[in-house]
Amino acid sequence: MHDPASVRQHLEALREAIREHQYKYYVENRPEISDAEYDALFRELLALEAAHPELVTPDSPTQRVGGEPATGFAPVEHLVPMLSLDNATSAEELREFDARLQRLLPGEPLTYVVEPKVDGLGVALLYERGVLVRGATRGDGRVGEDVTQNLRAIKSVPLRLRGPLAELARLEVRGEVYMPREAFVALNRQLEEEGQPPFANPRNAAAGSLRLLDPRLSARRPLDIFLYALSYAEPALPYTCHWDALQGLAAAGFKINPRRQRCATIEEVIAYCQALEAQRQALEYDADGVVVKVDRFALQQRLGATTHHPRWAIAFKFAAQQAVSRIKAIHISVGRTGALTPTAELEPVAIGGVTVSRASLHNEDEVRRKDVRVGDSVLVERAGDVIPQVVRVLLERRPVGTPPFVMPAHCPACGAAVYRPPGEVVVRCPNAACPAQLRERLLHYGSRRAMDIDGLGAAVVEQLVARGLVRDFADLYALDVPTLCTLERFATKSASNLVAAIARSRERGLARLLYALGIRHVGERVAALLARHYRTLDALMQAAAEELAQLPDIGPVIADSVSQFFAREENRRTLERLRAAGVRMEETAAAPAAGPLAGKVFVLTGTLPHLTRSQAQALITAAGGRVASAVSRKTDYVVAGADPGSKYQEALRLGIPILDEAALQRLLRGEA
Ligand code: IVH
Repeated sequence: MHDPASVRQHLEALREAIREHQYKYYVENRPEISDAEYDALFRELLALEAAHPELVTPDSPTQRVGGEPATGFAPVEHLVPMLSLDNATSAEELREFDARLQRLLPGEPLTYVVEPKVDGLGVALLYERGVLVRGATRGDGRVGEDVTQNLRAIKSVPLRLRGPLAELARLEVRGEVYMPREAFVALNRQLEEEGQPPFANPRNAAAGSLRLLDPRLSARRPLDIFLYALSYAEPALPYTCHWDALQGLAAAGFKINPRRQRCATIEEVIAYCQALEAQRQALEYDADGVVVKVDRFALQQRLGATTHHPRWAIAFKFAAQQAVSRIKAIHISVGRTGALTPTAELEPVAIGGVTVSRASLHNEDEVRRKDVRVGDSVLVERAGDVIPQVVRVLLERRPVGTPPFVMPAHCPACGAAVYRPPGEVVVRCPNAACPAQLRERLLHYGSRRAMDIDGLGAAVVEQLVARGLVRDFADLYALDVPTLCTLERFATKSASNLVAAIARSRERGLARLLYALGIRHVGERVAALLARHYRTLDALMQAAAEELAQLPDIGPVIADSVSQFFAREENRRTLERLRAAGVRMEETAAAPAAGPLAGKVFVLTGTLPHLTRSQAQALITAAGGRVASAVSRKTDYVVAGADPGSKYQEALRLGIPILDEAALQRLLRGEA
């Protein structure tokens, strides 16, 4: 294929195919080909472009991520100012809004469009003849920042449009960049593992990620976008109402919110707002309200705008997820790596229907940065399903003479003198035999994503450590029913269940074992990478730090940490005893549970319309999922039928997605 015309043709066909698959995967959530097939197409395109660099175009799917770190973002003046929204906090205020519009537009029937107000950050995307040329943050509404490089890396942002909108000379669309909750929790877990400060909520995480100066780092952050407005079009806006514009945006390849709805009366709007507020914990993103817009553009135009907000739209705000409380005490807990973590004990306060009495303070530097002191009044925020956070101190309310917080010099669990390694934000207890560390290590070892030992909870571990029955992981495998029966709240049945669960954990394989060992800087991702590369523990243990650092995605810090872990005599001894206890030390040959629900944990409650409980359970298991009896943070979905029990309330409280039978059937078909 040396003829330039046919190369060009083949390139374009490849790009078109890849765009189509990206759209199916990232926007519609319905991939048509396997990841491997997709990767093969992508590699073919990369190779062809490498051979013909002169034919690379900016809208090629290979050009999403790239560019050098910037020193700052250039200012961008918006084509049309990005205004704010007026707020309503009650049904009454929504009725007043409607009455006001009726007065301003006498005799005009009003139709509204309602959409979740996703809590992220507003951006404007500019397309010329269907190609993305610029993306900017809202900024102060008049001037924003040019974050084109980072926006290009969001896979649901089309680099090139399809359909009639692609023909327009210029098109500006607006939307909300956000980080899905689940991704936010995972990102924070990773940041904490790396010793970096976590984000307080998904919005901050989205804003921080979109404004990273290195586009390659930004590209690794799991951002997504919903488009909510078509704000400018040249030569002319091709629609007469907002609803049609949204349909048009979807047809052009944009992701728009599937929960949007058209309402014929304000009472319908109110019902939507109330229903969405009741479900807000189950949404896959944070939403802080509902945006209500007059549908017809002609009416929008007649209503116009103030300098602050359009008169044709209003934001119904959900009850705040923030509240003011007072710090009663600051407690220090000791983690599995010996890290001392300060936690605030608060005067109990209700936030979004849940009583909050604790907030995470993360580490010494965070406490110092926010200058949190015992006795302070603080603003507390609950975000998704993470531990509530202290947003800031209300300094004007600080009692006189309040002393600053100081980290203790000794471990509160074992009394050892603590130290702070240079360059780290955490203070650590150096004592490997510290009972608090041992407890946390055991809990981590048995956690679901590690060795998944059902029943190895805090109360059991506490007793096992206090009585000296377990001094390292390997001791777990020597526990028997009579011994466990001597523990508080243990009977023969619970004891034999735990023994069986411990026995099953032998088969988890190398990746899970590496993660379970709690090696510093080795999270699930790194553990899987090491296991895939080395296959056996022996092979991994023989690798020198320099060799490990050669692996993609493994830097010198991780490499050092791994090789130091295996160099320590006590760790080698534990591993030998684990091996003797029959724990698998190779990557298991068996593929992970396959099926659309692989690895997902379900809880069933209430009566389903068509399926009996055992039918539902069988279907879930056959698709690779697991059914648990109680709702916990480990639950992925609660399937609720008629007359659900307390599990339903618990799911709402923990923000676990709730499915009806139809939604379960869709998941089983791999549709969602
Ligand atoms: S419409 C002129 N729709 O909320 C109308 N805004 O104060 C302007 N937002 O920063 C906005 N979801 O980024 C609209 N479905 C939605 C939205 C939405 C989130 C954000 C927007 C802006 C703020 C409005």
